[in-house]
Amino acid sequence: MLAKIEQLLQEVKGLTAQNPEELEALRIKYLSKKGAINALMADFRNVPAEQKKEVGMKLNELKNLAQERIAALKETFENQDNSAAELDLTRTAYPIKLGTRHPLTIVRNEIIDIFGRMGFTIADGPEVEDDWHVFSSMNFPADHPARDMQDTFFIETHPDIILRTHTSSVQSRVMEVSQPPIRVICPGRVYRNEAISYRAHCFFHQVEGLYVDKNVSFTDLKQVLLQFAQEMFGPDTKIRLRPSYFPFTEPSAEMDISCDICGGEGCPFCKYTGWVEILGCGMVDPAVLEANGIDSKVYTGYAFGMGVERITNLKYKVKDLRMFSENDTRFLEEFESAN
Ligand code: PHE
Repeated sequence: MLAKIEQLLQEVKGLTAQNPEELEALRIKYLSKKGAINALMADFRNVPAEQKKEVGMKLNELKNLAQERIAALKETFENQDNSAAELDLTRTAYPIKLGTRHPLTIVRNEIIDIFGRMGFTIADGPEVEDDWHVFSSMNFPADHPARDMQDTFFIETHPDIILRTHTSSVQSRVMEVSQPPIRVICPGRVYRNEAISYRAHCFFHQVEGLYVDKNVSFTDLKQVLLQFAQEMFGPDTKIRLRPSYFPFTEPSAEMDISCDICGGEGCPFCKYTGWVEILGCGMVDPAVLEANGIDSKVYTGYAFGMGVERITNLKYKVKDLRMFSENDTRFLEEFESAN
């Protein structure tokens, strides 16, 4: 009897099965009512009393081992079964979905590309700024409303430190360390203390431009902006300049483009005017050149500034500004093909 148990123990240790059917056959062979182990159990009463203890222990060992082994084999088949059932053969081979560029990044890059082709280089500066670079060097009078708490984020303990309200501060930083010819664009995030709604946010993005050299005229500005508008919105786009006011430019203007929805006929989008406003611009005020160390008797310059959200809205008709900062992937994925 002991020899028989020993032989089965060896067999059971090496049990393998190729498939669930083979495994079931093994289970029947060893563990079923009519199986080998039960047969031994039935024989157990014929074992002489003095051997019962030893044989009993061996028999239990065999039974446990057979149960464990068959359970372990069963588990491997069950796991395989599950993974086979869950395998979706229509899935893409890429394990991770590729991301998309943010619409504001797409449009900012496009603006940078257009001005880059016209010889402008990119200038960068800090978002946390001082009053000088944002306001004073830009010819803002001491009592200008933009300096007011309502528009500007101040740091309570350091009233001189603010979040920049426009990237004109970068223009100031470029002028204070370089001499003309200067031809830069300044893309970046800006902050204003506005109540958040579908048409205003406490932060947004700008691209401002600055060109300072000898004999720079308003005509140069107009030509560059026309070129920009037609590259950005299509070759039939018309521009219109309306007189305006900024502390840092004189004369100043706001630029409209012909409405690309109705082609200038008038529609709800352009409020039946045929025009939509896209940017502010003007000739750099000589006081700004002087404040930043440039001789205004020798040099003249123009500057312009636009909101990236505004341009993106016009291009993609996004109605709610808040969509840009909510990171809703359903919205972001819509720009997959625009990359
Ligand atoms: N700095 C202006 C703004 O933030 C835009 C602008 C730049 C206007 C340059 C004229 C010239 O609104």
